[in-house]
Amino acid sequence: MATRAATLTIGDKKIDLPVTVGSEGEAAIDIAKLRAETGHITYDPAYGNTGACQSAITFIDGDKGYLRYRGIPIEQLADKSDFIETAFLLIFGHLPSRAERARFDGRLAADAHIHEAFKHHFEGFPSDAPPMAILSAMINTAACFATVTYADPDTHDPEAFEEAAARLISKVRTIAAYTYRMTKGLPYIYPDPKLPYVANFLHMMFSMPCAPYEVHKEVEDALALILLLHADHEQNCSTSTVRMVGSSKANLFASCAAGVCALWGPLHGGANVEVLEMLDTIHKGGVTAEQYLEQVKQKKVLLYGFGHRVYKNFDPRAKILKESSDKVLAKLGVKDPLLDIARRLEELALKDSYFVDRKLYPNVDFYSGIIMKAIGIPVNMFTVLFAIGRMPGWIAQWKEQRDEPGGRIARPRQIYVGPAKTDYVPLESRG
Ligand code: CMC
Repeated sequence: MATRAATLTIGDKKIDLPVTVGSEGEAAIDIAKLRAETGHITYDPAYGNTGACQSAITFIDGDKGYLRYRGIPIEQLADKSDFIETAFLLIFGHLPSRAERARFDGRLAADAHIHEAFKHHFEGFPSDAPPMAILSAMINTAACFATVTYADPDTHDPEAFEEAAARLISKVRTIAAYTYRMTKGLPYIYPDPKLPYVANFLHMMFSMPCAPYEVHKEVEDALALILLLHADHEQNCSTSTVRMVGSSKANLFASCAAGVCALWGPLHGGANVEVLEMLDTIHKGGVTAEQYLEQVKQKKVLLYGFGHRVYKNFDPRAKILKESSDKVLAKLGVKDPLLDIARRLEELALKDSYFVDRKLYPNVDFYSGIIMKAIGIPVNMFTVLFAIGRMPGWIAQWKEQRDEPGGRIARPRQIYVGPAKTDYVPLESRG
């Protein structure tokens, strides 16, 4: 890693700060000694200019629209890989050999079931509880049922870690399916170890005890593609949350449960639900696409599924999903008017100076919801699907942080703007 120096002048004091350059040429001024040497801190609300770690997992070039996992372009993975292979790549840093893949698949199959006592926890939730709340709570519950394999940060045993990673990736899918079954008052369907990852999820979601769900290849492939495209996205809000929580040496399950909560928000993973609701409102005649965009420009509403902190050209995941949505809907013979509305909104927005000037393009959430709807995933489960997809990325990032020598607890500073020292006023003197 090449280094050079930057000079900072504050008043009459000058200090040299090292510049760290990443393998793709991204340069960062290393301010680790700034406060000690100058008494100053940096101020960067929402961290738009702050590199919080060095990472070898995912590379994004937002201006060129590149996304690579461990150096491999997302387009190649989408075309040639599958979700589990990609998960392994992210977590362990290389594509699995045949033996590694077989071992990992074996662990996923063995870990898919959940403890019978754990199953009863679902009934404690009201049937209209938000699935993301259940998911987060249940990831911590899962750790209570497997205390030996929830990946203690101080345990560097690779076997134990692989077991914990597989357990989490496998269980999150069972928890998601059981959540759906509970909210619908349907009997739980046990995982089938003979089925591959995504087919097993669809089976647990949609089979009935006397009527197994027939998994269509198109549906399985479309869902697998969605999961793969969501598998990691470097230091976004939920991943930074996982790292933040993990930096206190919280275990893998606790850290990822926190990631679920961060992902839930409508500006992040929750946007896929908002997109569908927005398209639905337009479809039901509440407003036209043109009127909706007018409201967006007046800052009354957001155009959900548009814009990104990092991508300022296009989101490569959205490009892949747009093509996929056309194919999936055609193959399934689904004619969804919401897809036409989405296309119309995109067409109008991409030639409107409000969006062009601000470099706002469709993001991954713009088309993913349409595909999930077409394959029968209920809207309130969309963000849960995002969480299943993102799990390998969170695990990889947690591991990378844990393995870093000399890692410290994350602890940002602040600029205090409250009152200066003020004396306490007793109640009887307050009026
Ligand atoms: N609709 C309307 N205006 C927007 C949008 C949008 N979707 N996104 C950004 N803007 C405007 C924003 O108001 C600001 O305008 P101005 O310069 O007049 O103040 C300008 O564009 C720059 O935006 P920003 O607020 O600096 O953008 P950000 O980097 O802070 O936020 C974002 C990124 C993704 C939160 C935002 O674009 C947004 O709210 N999008 C809608 C929600 C969404 O689709 N989220 C999913 C993100 S991708 C999946 C994921 O990783 O979670």
